Amino acid sequence: MTDKKTIILGIESSCDDTSAAVICNGVLLSNIIAGQSVHAAYGGVVPELASRAHQQNIIPVVHEALKTAGVDKSELSAIAFTRGPGLLGSLMVGTSFAKGLAQALDIPLVDVNHLQAHVLAHFISEGKPDEKIPEFPFLCLLVSGGNSQIILVKSYNDMKIIGQTIDDAAGEAFDKCAKVMGLPYPGGPHIDRLAQTGNPKAFTFNKPQIPEYNYSFSGLKTSFLYLLRDKVAENPDFIQENINDLSASIQSTVVDILLAKVKKAALDLKIRQIAVAGGVSANSELRKALTELGKKHHINVFIPPISYTTDNAAMIAMTGYFKYLDKNFCPLTEVPYSRITVETRPATSLHINQ
Ligand code: KG4
Repeated sequence: MTDKKTIILGIESSCDDTSAAVICNGVLLSNIIAGQSVHAAYGGVVPELASRAHQQNIIPVVHEALKTAGVDKSELSAIAFTRGPGLLGSLMVGTSFAKGLAQALDIPLVDVNHLQAHVLAHFISEGKPDEKIPEFPFLCLLVSGGNSQIILVKSYNDMKIIGQTIDDAAGEAFDKCAKVMGLPYPGGPHIDRLAQTGNPKAFTFNKPQIPEYNYSFSGLKTSFLYLLRDKVAENPDFIQENINDLSASIQSTVVDILLAKVKKAALDLKIRQIAVAGGVSANSELRKALTELGKKHHINVFIPPISYTTDNAAMIAMTGYFKYLDKNFCPLTEVPYSRITVETRPATSLHINQ
């Protein structure tokens, strides 16, 4: 028996967070995230600015992750990086850096699908004794600024999207509704905060009737916009006077829509475990409603710590660790991909049914 440590450096650069993390034998040692305030003035992420900020951040962030972990780069077993989906320019920075470092250290490179990593964030261990992880198979509700999906997770590397949005993502709905109320980007956390003292039944919005386990949020955004347009025409101060009730109402509608489909999937498929992942899983109402759903239907609900809901390299390193154990390495010739796609190498087996 050797006591060789498997140490993975994870790198995430798919959108507007530059992050690096170190995992040793499956236990997280560090997770450093540098956000990018440069986008705030534009009401959304500006891809070119994101790429430049990644270029500035990546070396200090990786340096800090290694230092915090107490690991020298010569001890690394492999480098895992987000290959997609995401902003192509941003992905290029992380991918190029990972390739360069892996080549210089002569260690394997592991490419990671960002969405698969969000799901596997539930397996990140901080080495605490009471950690609970989902058992396979489970359903993962993946809700972020770019995705709203229900994923049937059969194993670490066998996942199938069984439902997804046909238009806007849940986070996008939050952000767009926040924007028309004059709130800063990203609007989801602001709506969450304002909703705390609002009445969720003050305004009602039509819920979409979409077949199977799919979602749609663009109609909701439009009806919210029309409500504001009509009300502001009668009273120019309508938004300011009702911002808490508006926030609570839109939030509860989004949460109801999300929960209805994931509940249907769990009951139909007789799966007693639901995990939630992605930026929107930070939403307090969604977390509360999922917990209640779990209690009512005897379903185990897994809600990640807030730090693993948004983009982070810990989940990339964790996924990289599983792929490393499978010896599922990535040739230096692989390039990033911007959109959700079927992985090109069959051994990865992330099945996307679209
Ligand atoms: O996964 P994520 O960090 O990255 C992208 O998909 O880019 O998700 C970001 C999304 C944004 O739409 C943001 O508004 C939303 O997550 N979000 C929230 C909350 N925190 C973040 N939405 C609702 N309530 C929150 N507390």
